[in-house]
Amino acid sequence: MKEKGGEYIWFDGKFVKWEDAKVPVFTHAMHYGTAVFEGIRGYASKDNVYVFRLKEHVERLRRSAGVYSIALHHSVKELCDATVALLKKNNMKQSVYIRPLTFVGLHGIDLNVTDKSPTHTVIIAFPFEKYFKGEGISACVSSWRRISDQSTPPLAKAAGNYLNSILATQESHRNGYDESILLDMAGNVSEASGENIFVVRNKKIYTPFFADSALEGITRESAMAIAKGMGYEVVERPIPRAELYMADEIFLTGTAAEIVPVTSVDGHAIGSGKEGHITRSIREAYARIVTGGVREYMGWLTPVW
Ligand SMILES: Cc1ncc(COP(=O)(O)O)c(C=O)c1O
Repeated sequence: MKEKGGEYIWFDGKFVKWEDAKVPVFTHAMHYGTAVFEGIRGYASKDNVYVFRLKEHVERLRRSAGVYSIALHHSVKELCDATVALLKKNNMKQSVYIRPLTFVGLHGIDLNVTDKSPTHTVIIAFPFEKYFKGEGISACVSSWRRISDQSTPPLAKAAGNYLNSILATQESHRNGYDESILLDMAGNVSEASGENIFVVRNKKIYTPFFADSALEGITRESAMAIAKGMGYEVVERPIPRAELYMADEIFLTGTAAEIVPVTSVDGHAIGSGKEGHITRSIREAYARIVTGGVREYMGWLTPVW
């Protein structure tokens, strides 16, 4: 993070001052990307700060770590409690982004990371509002392909995976787009650099399978539940590139991005070129839910205060 966030960082079970939360340069993760992480949000509301789907995020961290035999020395409950305690310790009353990270420490240069390798877990929190500015974003299809389960599995939220997302993001920004959409190795739509993707056609909502190299997004699952609750049909299936150009609406989902309409792809206007009404209804419902405005979905929220 460029700027200092909260005064304290949770570091292997202790609160450490931001300035003192340091690691040796020989840290394995810095050399080989051997780290897994999460991105979580806390939303300020009238009366509280609510952490969105905290348990689901920490459970995904555990699953990601398991793929690489990166030992996580804390239970899901410990990490959930630690997250809430960190926000309290930092006296955070505003909306925040929370970044738990588990990384391999001083393991040497060899690549045989096992569950005996030294690992550390930190949780960092900092104030956060909007990721994408504006009413809708422009996207391009990247010339880079999404990493594959046959190489570095996209289902594990591993630090090293993000080199692929960085290449795609750099290319899209260089070419004047807000975001990139990546195809999988078979040429089907996979996901955006940091979000899952949904396509709306004839009032039905489609999203790629995990097998199309997509992350098991928690916002994806939330958006699917919200859409189904509104009576929309949501179908997981492969999406060919050209279908993006034919879509009535496209939206992306992710913790940072939340629910964001894509209003053009490769210069093709999507639908009317403005946010479509299905996207709007899901986006607005999501915004109410995360701030504690919908009783039915309060189970997704962990109050801090
Ligand atoms: C590559 C990628 N896909 C999808 C997502 C969306 O996942 P989530 O909704 O769990 O934040 C993210 C963000 O974490 C991501 O980095």
